[in-house]
Amino acid sequence: MSLIEQAAKRLEQLRQAGVELPDDNLAQSPAQRAQTIATAPDPYATPIVRSPLAADEKKPASSTSKRIELNLEAISAAGLLVPQATRSQLADEFRVIKRPLIANAMGKGSEPLPNGNLIMVTSALPGEGKSFTAINLAISIAMELDNTVMLVDADVARPSVLNMLGLPPAAGLLDVVAKNSVDISGVLLRTNIEKLSILPSGMQHPRATELLASDAMVRLLEDMASRYNDRIIIFDSPPLLLTTESRALATHMGQIVIVVNAENTAQAAVKQAVDAIEACPVKMMVLNQARQAATDGYGYGYGYGYGYGDDK
Ligand SMILES: Nc1ncnc2c1ncn2[C@@H]1O[C@H](COP(=O)(O)OP(=O)(O)O)[C@@H](O)[C@H]1O
Ligand SMILES: [Mg+2]
Repeated sequence: MSLIEQAAKRLEQLRQAGVELPDDNLAQSPAQRAQTIATAPDPYATPIVRSPLAADEKKPASSTSKRIELNLEAISAAGLLVPQATRSQLADEFRVIKRPLIANAMGKGSEPLPNGNLIMVTSALPGEGKSFTAINLAISIAMELDNTVMLVDADVARPSVLNMLGLPPAAGLLDVVAKNSVDISGVLLRTNIEKLSILPSGMQHPRATELLASDAMVRLLEDMASRYNDRIIIFDSPPLLLTTESRALATHMGQIVIVVNAENTAQAAVKQAVDAIEACPVKMMVLNQARQAATDGYGYGYGYGYGYGDDK
């Protein structure tokens, strides 16, 4: 079966499962290498107004946050990046991916970007490598001398960051939002990667997805963007086409990374995902591509593709 046939079959299965998908009156040309789309800030996007904070309010109460130990050997064995992996292909690929994101986040892009330090990693559908990309991106940025990173697990329905890093469940985002609070200091995890902290998704909550799209969440995001404005905050997020809360989240992000699985994402789904986050000023598309492993013929190794261009 060709890639397109596989994609069409997958879409049909989703449709039969009751998932609302875009009209696919879009011609499906053969899967192309994904492109990095760095668009100019959208003049119609509403700028996010930050309330000025007093200097002492800005200080995170880091002394109260817990410190956890990441098992770097196990993380590396699981195929994820670790700080020591200086010249691996994965490290090189993420070096290229992170560069424009960091420049934009630090206000060194071509134009100032509201909430540029809030970076969401999303994709059209589940299983495309959002969490894998978000974790690697966070570790890669944390390896920089100048950048401090907070990795937020915002895929509250299917959280996986702690699990992928070999950590037990912990309180986090949902616990803070459920209390209508903006104080994450008690649930933020500091790690043995000095510049990396993790905000877990938190307790399983029956209204998890509503909480993620709630006003309390919006207040928290605004607070995070200004309180931690010296920090790059990466959100591992729900897929765009199956849920609406990911779109709600997207409206507060300065930058969005869309992960596209070369094998499985239909072009119509990618187009729909990009349309869903139209208002975000900077979108980057990253191809998460399975490479055929010579040994077992299964998509074992992966690689990243990227490029600049226009999505239309
Ligand atoms: N580039 C990659 N290399 C190796 N494994 C990958 C890669 N991308 C994804 N995976 C693996 O594929 C599975 C699905 O990826 P995940 O990041 O959990 O997807 P999502 O968060 O989009 O649902 C995970 O087990 C992940 O470790
Ligand atoms: Mg995930």
